[in-house]
Amino acid sequence: MSSTNITARWAFNVSEWNPPDEQYQQILSFIQPEEKSRINRFHFIEDAKLSLIGRCLMRLLFCKLYKYDWKTIQFSRTKKNKPILVNPDSDSIINFNISHHGDWVVLVASENSSIGVDVMKVELPNNQSMEYFFETLKDRFSDHEWLTITNPNYTQFQQLHQFYQYWCLKESYVKAVGLGLSLDLRSIEFHLSNEEPNLIENMQSIKSKTQLLINNELQPEWKFEESYLDNLHCVCIAYNVLDHENFIINPQNFEKIDIEEILKYAKNL
Ligand SMILES: CC(C)(COP(=O)(O)OP(=O)(O)OC[C@H]1O[C@@H](n2cnc3c(N)ncnc32)[C@H](O)[C@@H]1OP(=O)(O)O)[C@@H](O)C(=O)NCCC(=O)NCCS
Repeated sequence: MSSTNITARWAFNVSEWNPPDEQYQQILSFIQPEEKSRINRFHFIEDAKLSLIGRCLMRLLFCKLYKYDWKTIQFSRTKKNKPILVNPDSDSIINFNISHHGDWVVLVASENSSIGVDVMKVELPNNQSMEYFFETLKDRFSDHEWLTITNPNYTQFQQLHQFYQYWCLKESYVKAVGLGLSLDLRSIEFHLSNEEPNLIENMQSIKSKTQLLINNELQPEWKFEESYLDNLHCVCIAYNVLDHENFIINPQNFEKIDIEEILKYAKNL
């Protein structure tokens, strides 16, 4: 029997971090210069904070868990923009991924599988109506998924929760494979399990039995952990396992990280 070695499930609440300018500038000096310039170009400080904390969590991962020196860690990005570690070289391949939305930044990591994560705040963007919002994004979901989202027994708010849970499932998979917008999202279909309570009714639980089908074919090597960070933010981790028949699922809650934890390890670059 084997279980996947997810080495980090970290979550940072940026709404609780309102740094004075001096501390914000200090944190900016902890990341690579090209990323600092990118973040300085954001219009809204809230977006800059989310991305900045994401970069710090990546460094914290390699520094705290893998004992690398903060200053020698070097990240690059793939052609599709996915961050990867380029230096120092390591014997084991450590996969990681970041997501940020609303109040939260999350990081996940694994030593033996591809891994992706997505967090979403359950809200309607820019005062859009629910009808308009659903109409513009309906084409990303299969007929089966759309029927589940628009279950007539749900209130509108519950339908929105269900929508974002599917969204996180799709995005976490897309991010694990690192392909971004090039995938046909309708061909990636998720089937929820009847054996697990719906997260809308039990936000404290972690779902781990949802199945992925691609072009109607089951993909048993792909596993998903779905949960809520608080009552408005749903999150999903996607990872693949080699020996899926002998695999034990061991879902866990996210560990909360705060700025003090970053300051303990960080160094100016
Ligand atoms: C990057 C992408 C994969 C996700 O972006 P997003 O949901 O806006 O943002 P998230 O907060 O989840 O993730 C952003 C982080 O993912 C990482 N990332 C960027 N490109 C990535 C890629 N191709 N693969 C994996 N991770 C990526 C980065 O760390 C990025 O943080 P940064 O911008 O601060 O550097 C997006 O470009 C995309 O293509 N999404 C599919 C769009 C879609 O229609 N989804 C509908 C689902 S139903």
